[in-house]
Amino acid sequence: VTSSSTASPFSQEAKKLARSFGFLYDCDGVLHLGDQKIDSAKSALRLCWDHDSRYLFLTNGGGNTTEEQKAASLKKKVGIDGVDDLIGDRVIQSHTPLRKFRTQAKEDQTIYITSLDPERAREIAHSYGFKNVITSTDLLEQYEHIYPFTPKHIFNSKGRALPNGTKLWRGKDAMAYDAAELKSGNYLKIDHVFIFNDPRDWSLETQIIHDILASHQGYLGTLSHKNGDQSLENGGWQQDGQPKVWISNLDLLWKTEHPINRFGTGAFLHAFRGVWKESTGHELLFKYMGKPSRITYEYAHDSLLRANGAADGRAEPLRRVYMIGDNPESDVRGALEFQPEDGTEYVPILVKTGVWRQTEAERQPRWQPAVIVDDVLDAVVWAMRNEG
Ligand code: G3P
Ligand code: MG
Repeated sequence: VTSSSTASPFSQEAKKLARSFGFLYDCDGVLHLGDQKIDSAKSALRLCWDHDSRYLFLTNGGGNTTEEQKAASLKKKVGIDGVDDLIGDRVIQSHTPLRKFRTQAKEDQTIYITSLDPERAREIAHSYGFKNVITSTDLLEQYEHIYPFTPKHIFNSKGRALPNGTKLWRGKDAMAYDAAELKSGNYLKIDHVFIFNDPRDWSLETQIIHDILASHQGYLGTLSHKNGDQSLENGGWQQDGQPKVWISNLDLLWKTEHPINRFGTGAFLHAFRGVWKESTGHELLFKYMGKPSRITYEYAHDSLLRANGAADGRAEPLRRVYMIGDNPESDVRGALEFQPEDGTEYVPILVKTGVWRQTEAERQPRWQPAVIVDDVLDAVVWAMRNEG
């Protein structure tokens, strides 16, 4: 079964109109709840296919799946196994925009990466063009005392060597390093930290990421200092060429089949910020992508302009895009704040099947959608009626 092979009951005129607007579907809480299906998701997608509307899936999920793998699992979770239109190109995960990043980090620098499964995250990072990727597994294998406890989850790193034959600095006194010696290129230097969704082992990752950020310019085993002064004014933490931290989304909460919302990647960020502040006295400096960031909405917009076989892969303009989501902080806020230069209007629709629940205390969400509807099918129907 292909989505386009189904006889469509809609006229050419209606289809032409439908190509002028598009849909961004959030996944968790909109199309499925963990492995549990949301009944109307299939019909909502069918309606969109019948009209030949442009669409993509925009999720803050990721960390242990490539876009192709995510597309396959989505098909299963929605119950549309036979649909061959749902391919990896239609899926934007929290870290997917890294694909387009042009950065030295992809060439001769080294990144540290963490996620649910560091080995899979490494593969994903390689697929985006990052050459030197280090995970906690590598460090646990090669730096026996880096973590004082037995890690909860041990992954097999297949005995990988450190990038470019580097070794770990092993001075006895972390503050007595030789800066010139470190620069020789013989020692492992981490240039960027990427948190690809929820780290599985918060304790282990808190320790390692803290080590990296507190080190002298990313050389593990050292501690940054400027004549013993670590204040922001005089160099010190995150101010003297130390690695930058990227987090792939800010979701404090997300919705699975459990009746109560679950903590997401943002929860780890909050926990880590607390530890960092307590330990250094300073606010953590970090960058982020994923919803609600402009980086991610821009990436989605550009992909949507080219979706559904636009002629020669060229961008075809859109009048309006409907973002259908369950989380006001990511889905509604992101769409409200995003105003692309080409003038396309972004319209957030909030569904009641996920993170946001209308309660007596909270009748309206903090970020106001164009409309609140019961589920994804109602959202698509509302959007199509809105288009006349
Ligand atoms: O980890 C996934 C979660 O943060 C949200 O996913 O699909 O609702 O953006 P989604
Ligand atoms: Mg969601």
